[in-house]
Amino acid sequence: MGLFSFIKKLRHILAQRPNIPAAFGENPLVSTILNRRSVRKFLDADIKDEEIALILEAGRLAPSTVNMQTWSFGVFNRKTWKDTFGRAIPYGAMRAVMVLGDVTRMKRAADVFPDAPVVEYTVGVINASLAAMNMTIMAEALGIGSVMLSDTGKTGFFSTAYLRETLELPHGVYPLMTVVFGYPGRQNIPMPPKFKIDDIAFCGTYKDTEGARIRDWFSLMEAGYRASSLFSSFGAKLNYYKSNLNRAERELRDIVLGEKPKK
Ligand SMILES: Cc1cc2nc3c(=O)[nH]c(=O)nc-3n(C[C@H](O)[C@H](O)[C@H](O)COP(=O)(O)O)c2cc1C
Repeated sequence: MGLFSFIKKLRHILAQRPNIPAAFGENPLVSTILNRRSVRKFLDADIKDEEIALILEAGRLAPSTVNMQTWSFGVFNRKTWKDTFGRAIPYGAMRAVMVLGDVTRMKRAADVFPDAPVVEYTVGVINASLAAMNMTIMAEALGIGSVMLSDTGKTGFFSTAYLRETLELPHGVYPLMTVVFGYPGRQNIPMPPKFKIDDIAFCGTYKDTEGARIRDWFSLMEAGYRASSLFSSFGAKLNYYKSNLNRAERELRDIVLGEKPKK
């Protein structure tokens, strides 16, 4: 990538803005939802217990399939996280909520999934993800930053076996992601490259996204990674994911399908 093209791509990334028609510009919830960004640098100032309680309340009251509420939340501060995992909460965050799909309550009330492990897992993932999103939006409304983590610090579904052992998770509980919270260490975080609505929405039969648009997105991601870290690249990130996928797949098959992991 030449320097000129690199600069052009960075300018494109930095120029991205949410599309907010003027009539909705004053609505604070519109702005809260559309201006949320993943935060990866936090101030060394704790958030209040009442605030984390409100964030959890947003998770508790999230929508779910048949109101099954197939989730559990592991709630940590810096100390309890360190005591449990022997390391700091990623990115210097103050609090962490591990979001787990949890069908144990549902199974005890009425076992509706006896022969449908993939459906059961999917229901757990869908609902818990919605709870996680509600929590991040509540945090944002309180001026608290967050990032969802599936991998960093062994806190998500990539580290299923480790988390099952460390947290003594019973069958039917699936670690999905950890959302870490704190006051943002910087403002105006650039929006990573997003597809346009025409690239991702369709009416009637499915419409493929144009190849050129996908290539554009990929090269913007490469430029964004290059700009944010001298020592990393989008390609390296994808390779890191790839190299952990086989293990993650084996561990997930074990908990979802009951297949014993092959060594
Ligand atoms: C389920 C999930 C898992 C994620 N895992 C990670 C992660 O392990 N590390 C990380 O830095 N960001 C992670 N992210 C954050 C994404 O990278 C981020 O949402 C994406 O780049 C879009 O940026 P935005 O949230 O600012 O719109 C995750 C996001 C989601 C939804």
